[in-house]
Amino acid sequence: MRVGFIGLGIMGQQMASNLLKAGFRVVAHSRTRSKVDALVALGAEAGTSPRDVARRCDVVITMVPDTPDVRHVMLGPDGVIEGAHDGLIAIDMSTISPTATQEIAATLAAKGVRMLDAPVSGGQSGAIAGTLSIMVGGDAAVFKQCEPVFAAMGTRITHIGPHGHGQITKLCNQVVGVLNLQAIAEGLVLATKAGVDVQRVIDALSGGAADSWMLRNQAPRMLARDFAPGFFIRLQQKDLRLVMELAGTLGAPLPGTALVHQLFSAVEATGGGELGTQALVLALERLAGLDSR
Ligand SMILES: NC(=O)c1ccc[n+]([C@@H]2O[C@H](COP(=O)([O-])OP(=O)(O)OC[C@H]3O[C@@H](n4cnc5c(N)ncnc54)[C@H](OP(=O)(O)O)[C@@H]3O)[C@@H](O)[C@H]2O)c1
Repeated sequence: MRVGFIGLGIMGQQMASNLLKAGFRVVAHSRTRSKVDALVALGAEAGTSPRDVARRCDVVITMVPDTPDVRHVMLGPDGVIEGAHDGLIAIDMSTISPTATQEIAATLAAKGVRMLDAPVSGGQSGAIAGTLSIMVGGDAAVFKQCEPVFAAMGTRITHIGPHGHGQITKLCNQVVGVLNLQAIAEGLVLATKAGVDVQRVIDALSGGAADSWMLRNQAPRMLARDFAPGFFIRLQQKDLRLVMELAGTLGAPLPGTALVHQLFSAVEATGGGELGTQALVLALERLAGLDSR
């Protein structure tokens, strides 16, 4: 199976290299040539456009920032749709709007292209290790066909339901994730204010009832003042806008998530949009009168 990969950013670069390691022939494309070259050095072929990638592959994966980017790559000029051929499957692994996903899937289907939405969780470390959780929406038979592709990038692979249900699951994941991040930031601020050894607090909490992926991955970064992006605050805010939009249409109040969305806005307002999400702690430190950064 020849797999195309479009969007070689923090996540895409790692996911595409895991496909190569699993033995897939990969055709890679991104707007920045150096990112494509890095994958070619690992054995991939270079694709010149989404259309070119689609023409040469059985499956095309997109891993780009936002809904307009997926729309552009799939349906725009020189897009995947222009490279449509018999049997082509398009898998979008970005986090985007569930309703837009359904529209894009319908447009592609009219040209005979079958689509899956397959957003992921597990962060940059999960992308590197090939241990992502992958939540899939779309036809069950297409999902079955693509399982070996998913298995090269993730360990928990779940078919949720029809088009868009993968994206809705990912938005639920973001609600749980950001509230967990908020809890960790608050715990660390309290520990700092109390003057206890914060590293020992993290050690003690790991393995107890407060343990989590967020605690193990993000608390040490908060403590080390390492705000390098594994996941940009700018993209987290995009996800939370999608969450609030969906919640609004459903009449589902999400007061905790709305609060974290605003606290991320406070970090963005002081130039933090390109920092990693662990920089949420900066907003709480400022509220607590701690000397931040
Ligand atoms: N980072 C995480 O921890 C994480 C975890 C789960 C899900 N996600 C989701 O995964 C997606 C990607 O996130 P990321 O962190 O990898 O972001 P990123 O580092 O910004 O990467 C996105 C890449 O998409 C490429 N791109 C954008 N428009 C394109 C186009 N028209 N044609 C070809 N390539 C295009 C860009 O490549 P160029 O630089 O070449 O333009 C960029 O490198 C987002 O939807 C995000 O919400 C991220």
